Amino acid sequence: MIRLPRRTLAALAALSAITTAPALAQAPYPTRPITMIIPFAAGGPTDTVGRLIAQVMTTELGQPVVVENVGGAGGTLGAQRVANARPDGYTILLHHIGMSTIPTLYRRVPYDAINGFETVGLVTEVPMTLVGRRTLPATNMAELIALVRRERDRLNYANAGIGAASHLCGLLLMKALDVPMTTVPYRGTGPAMNDLVAGTVDLMCDQTTNTTEQIRGGTIRAFAVTTPQRVASLPDVPTAAQAGLPGFEISVWHGLYTPRATPRPVVERLNRALVAALRDEGIGRRFADLGTAPVEIARATPEYHRTFWQGDIVKWRPLIQAAGQYAD
Ligand code: MLT
Repeated sequence: MIRLPRRTLAALAALSAITTAPALAQAPYPTRPITMIIPFAAGGPTDTVGRLIAQVMTTELGQPVVVENVGGAGGTLGAQRVANARPDGYTILLHHIGMSTIPTLYRRVPYDAINGFETVGLVTEVPMTLVGRRTLPATNMAELIALVRRERDRLNYANAGIGAASHLCGLLLMKALDVPMTTVPYRGTGPAMNDLVAGTVDLMCDQTTNTTEQIRGGTIRAFAVTTPQRVASLPDVPTAAQAGLPGFEISVWHGLYTPRATPRPVVERLNRALVAALRDEGIGRRFADLGTAPVEIARATPEYHRTFWQGDIVKWRPLIQAAGQYAD
C-alpha cells in the first residue's frame, strides 16, 4: 500500500471538496426521463389529467415525463411505488382526493400515507357526475331514487376500489339515500366506463373528465353533477340539489408528489414545470371541455398543496368513520 504524507492527504481532501461540492450543489436536474405514476388504469380521469400535464412538463423539463399506470387497491399500489422510490425526482405521483381518504380508510398501508411524500402543487378540481347505463329504467333523479330504494343491493355500482373518488362518491350517495348497493371494484373508472357503456354495471359516480364525452354521445345517462353550480360543458345536467338530492356534493382535487426527502431544488424545478402546464392555453381549453380548469397558480405551490391536503384528511375522517367502511 502506498502511504502518502499527511499534508498531501489534506491537500487532496481539500481539492476534492473544491471540485465536488459545487458540482453537487448545482447537479443538473433532470438528466434522464421521469416516470409519472398514475395510480389508476389507463383511459380514466386521473390518466387523462396526468397525460395532459406530462406533455407540457416534458417540454419544460427537456426530458420525457413518461406516464406509467399502476392501478389497483384504490390507488394505494401506485402511491406505495412512489413513497418507496428514491427521492431523486425521477419518480413522481399524480394522485387525487384519495390521498385524503386513504389514511382513514385503510387500517394498514405499506407506506407512510401522511408523511411519505413531498407536495409539488395542486393541479385541478374536477366535478363528479352520477351516471347510469342508458337502459336503466330511470330517466331522471326522482326516478333513480325510487329505483334505488326499490332495488337496493340488486343494483350494482362500479367504482375504482376503496380509496377511489368513485368509492367516496358512492359512500355519499348511499348515505344520502340510506340504502346499500352492491359495489363492483375496478382498477380504475376507465375500464369501469367500458362496462357501464356495455350495460353490464348499473351506476357509477365519476369525474367529468371521464364522463363528459360519453354523456354528450348518449352512451350513458347523467342524473346530476355533484357541484353547487351546473358545469358549463354539460349545461343540461342538473346539480344534485336541483335534482332533489341536496348535500350530495363532492369535487375531486388532484396534486403532484415526490417521495419524502426529495431535495427542495428538485421539487421547485418540478413545480415550475407544473405551473407552466397550468398556464398552457391548450390544457386550459381541454380541461374546460372536460368540465374542469387548472387551479389558480397561488394554489399550485408545495406549501398550499400540503396545507390543503392535510386539512382534507381531517375533513373526510368523520364521514368515513361514520360509514364504517375500512380496508385492511
Ligand atoms: C381513475 O382515474 O380511474 C379514477 O380517478 C378512479 C377514481 O378515483 O374513481
